[in-house]
Amino acid sequence: MSAGDGRGDSEALGRVGEALLGCIAHGGLVAVCSGAGCSAESGIPTFRGAVAGGEGADAPGGDDGDDPAIALPLWSRNDPAALATPEGFARDPELVTRWYDWRRRRCLRASPNAGHRALAELEALCAGADGDGFVLLTQNVDGLHQRAGSVRVHELHGSLYRWRDVATGAERVFADPAPMGVYPPRNDATGNALRPCVVWFGEALPEEVVDAGLEAASRCEVFLSVGTSAAVYPAAGFAEAAGARGAFVAEVNLEATGLSGVADVSVRGRCAELLPRLVSMVRAGLGER
Ligand code: OAD
Repeated sequence: MSAGDGRGDSEALGRVGEALLGCIAHGGLVAVCSGAGCSAESGIPTFRGAVAGGEGADAPGGDDGDDPAIALPLWSRNDPAALATPEGFARDPELVTRWYDWRRRRCLRASPNAGHRALAELEALCAGADGDGFVLLTQNVDGLHQRAGSVRVHELHGSLYRWRDVATGAERVFADPAPMGVYPPRNDATGNALRPCVVWFGEALPEEVVDAGLEAASRCEVFLSVGTSAAVYPAAGFAEAAGARGAFVAEVNLEATGLSGVADVSVRGRCAELLPRLVSMVRAGLGER
């Protein structure tokens, strides 16, 4: 089932709300997997797919000038092989680290949107006393879920703010909105180059986040996939695995994705509009019980 005529998606959203309420009622686990579409309305570019950016798309004080291409998905105007692989970094560490520092600063300037805040509230409604009723798996590296108040967050693809020594693995956090200035940045103690703790194509995800994803897929009653093209594995596989064992799978996205065929409900539209509506349904439903 899918719906996407703007506001005509209430029935589909209602089915997702009912599934969430049922899950909360018997203490089941709600798993959410978010992608770049969830942050699009905070003005952070996505990687692929349809575009529905937010007011912050070209935030004043930024360094993106008036470049109209800034609204396009990143992989439609940049080569992922050059910017998001170990080989690309080995070839041109200056280019790669400049690009990640540009993204880091852009994300630092951004603020969580209504979609992020809705997911933080959903966690509070679902988590239960022991916190066991909710988990958020995010492919985003921007930290906006945490800034919106989400607690049980697993960053599948790492973080733009943590950088590590290529030789020793020692990490450093860059929280300063000023440009790093030196590319690649260096570890003061060793002089070695630092790289972002972001998972690149061809690299394995950290073991603990894969375990969290597998655990969520094997235990959840409801799996909600939001703002992701579901094109990158293993992240996309968690929703598929949950669906294969009978969990209720729902998707919120601007357009159809690889997951739409297996989702019980696919709701088309913007995360910042649909997620608050969904969460207010859940809040209202809990109030009635
Ligand atoms: P993508 O950029 O692949 O997909 C974003 C999805 O969000 C698309 O399907 C859009 O249609 C949808 N979308 C855009 N704006 C939206 C909005 N306001 N509301 C709802 N949906 C919206 O992002 P991811 O699926 O997160 O990996 O990409 C997965 C990984 O691929 C990323 O983590 C990144 C990338 O290569 C790494 O960098 C390691």
